[in-house]
Amino acid sequence: MRYFLLFFLVGCCFSEESINNHRFPSDFIFAAATSAYQVEGAWNEDGKSPSLWDTTIHNNASFIEDLSNADIACDSYHKIKEDVAILKTLGVSHYRFSLSWTRILPNGIGKVNEAGVAYYKNLIKELKDNGIEPFVTIFHWDLPQILFDMGGVINPSFVDWHAEFARECFRLFGDDVKLWATFNEPQQVCTGGYGYGYFPPAIKSEVQLEYVCVYHVLKAHAKSWHIYDDEFRSKQNGRVSLALDTSAFIPATESAADLEAADRMLHFMLGIYANAIYVGDYPEVVKTRVAARSAAEGRNQSRLPELTQSEIDYIRGTHDFFGLNVYSATVAAAMDDPPVSDPPNKWGEQGVNTYQPTDWEETSIDGTKVVPWTVQSLLIWIKDNYNNPGIIITENGYPSKGDKDDRRVHYIRGYLSNIRDVMIDHGVKVLGYTVWSLMDNFEWASGYTQKFGLFEVDFNSPNRTRTIRPSGEFYKKVTETRCLVDNCVD
Ligand SMILES: *[C@@H]1O[C@H](CO)[C@@H](O)[C@H](O)[C@H]1NC(C)=O
Ligand SMILES: *[C@@H]1O[C@H](CO)[C@@H](O)[C@H](O)[C@H]1NC(C)=O
Ligand SMILES: *[C@@H]1O[C@H](CO)[C@@H](O)[C@H](O)[C@H]1NC(C)=O
Repeated sequence: MRYFLLFFLVGCCFSEESINNHRFPSDFIFAAATSAYQVEGAWNEDGKSPSLWDTTIHNNASFIEDLSNADIACDSYHKIKEDVAILKTLGVSHYRFSLSWTRILPNGIGKVNEAGVAYYKNLIKELKDNGIEPFVTIFHWDLPQILFDMGGVINPSFVDWHAEFARECFRLFGDDVKLWATFNEPQQVCTGGYGYGYFPPAIKSEVQLEYVCVYHVLKAHAKSWHIYDDEFRSKQNGRVSLALDTSAFIPATESAADLEAADRMLHFMLGIYANAIYVGDYPEVVKTRVAARSAAEGRNQSRLPELTQSEIDYIRGTHDFFGLNVYSATVAAAMDDPPVSDPPNKWGEQGVNTYQPTDWEETSIDGTKVVPWTVQSLLIWIKDNYNNPGIIITENGYPSKGDKDDRRVHYIRGYLSNIRDVMIDHGVKVLGYTVWSLMDNFEWASGYTQKFGLFEVDFNSPNRTRTIRPSGEFYKKVTETRCLVDNCVD
């Protein structure tokens, strides 16, 4: 294989980076992503009811770093033509966006709000008129408040609520949507919302309610997939999966114990969802450790709700691709098991020390360091553990405070190059790549302080003017040439 060599200066030293010079396949998906809550605004327009995020922020402004909210955000609810025009500028084949549950079903379940449906129908039509395929996430964190009031994701009924919403989405939009994700990053819902508690509803119940959430998410995903499979697939011919997020984990040394620690972290972070869907049941190491620690805590059953054989069979195989959100990596080092604690915690559960070396390039977000080469081992791990699925990178992107866009180019090119490498060298089936994000938007608890956009958005202007960044120009060139360097080989 021939490589184009690019030399650049890092700190004190000369370092070398090789960029893959093989053209991406003609059917490779190049996409850009947003989510409803982060861009739409119009939080109470046309019959939309509040989501858990709306009420949390409205009740407590200090939940958000810059005391902002998403009431207007990028105003995408009123900017269908502008949003599709900037996607067209980028030359992407797909736009990944999500549906606001409370815009479509203001009561969470039941009656459909036609005005909300019209927004998405118009968006999808405008996309297709411009040759862009919709890639739709059904649930990207903005749970209806009305369902939260009834227990939200930790009520077993959540499984049916999600599945009913999914059925409506397939019915309403499925003739025009061929790619679906039932969930975006359920780990952020379960661990963020019920584990560490950094996202609404901000309940700190590490490895307890957090696991109840995981259990319901798995069943909800599976039920929604089966509904598609049974009722829609033969007419609509789409693909349904979900987008799972993980860090890559790099063993601290090549010792067996550190290799095992890195493997264990992936099973806890990614495998707790993916294993059930792609293999069947939770990963053995997760089940065993949680059961043992639960017993040592004096419990009569595992904190991780057991899957019955019929649940295992029902969840196994509910995928048509593997959606992966990945931004960075972490070093994993073995350690002696910590004693059990009350309340239990994730660190003890996993039994791994994690850290990021100081010489990894920083971004504006702690823990999101720039290490594109680490995606190779992660993708190979997914190939090896989940029976070589077709993988779509459903998110990858670089945060800044609005500066350092050249480092965003470096980041995106680095990830794409390493992805192309493992496709060729290891036969990993990567089907597509999605940049987070199409444009700067409401970055959850960080408000507008973190910027990921290929387009800058002027949040001081009522027009929310979008302006392409050099990284957007770079991505446009990639989508045009399917190539990361000046001259590619096929
Ligand atoms: C508001 O949010 C902040 C930041 O998450 C938190 O520390 C505080 O306890 C919250 N206040 C209330 C009343 O919930
Ligand atoms: C486990 O203990 C709880 C009380 O701590 C009890 O309600 C439950 O029935 C017990 N379960 C089994 C399987 O024994
Ligand atoms: C917003 O857009 C309108 C219509 O294009 C234009 O007339 C106006 O000057 C813009 N306002 C700002 C603040 O950019």
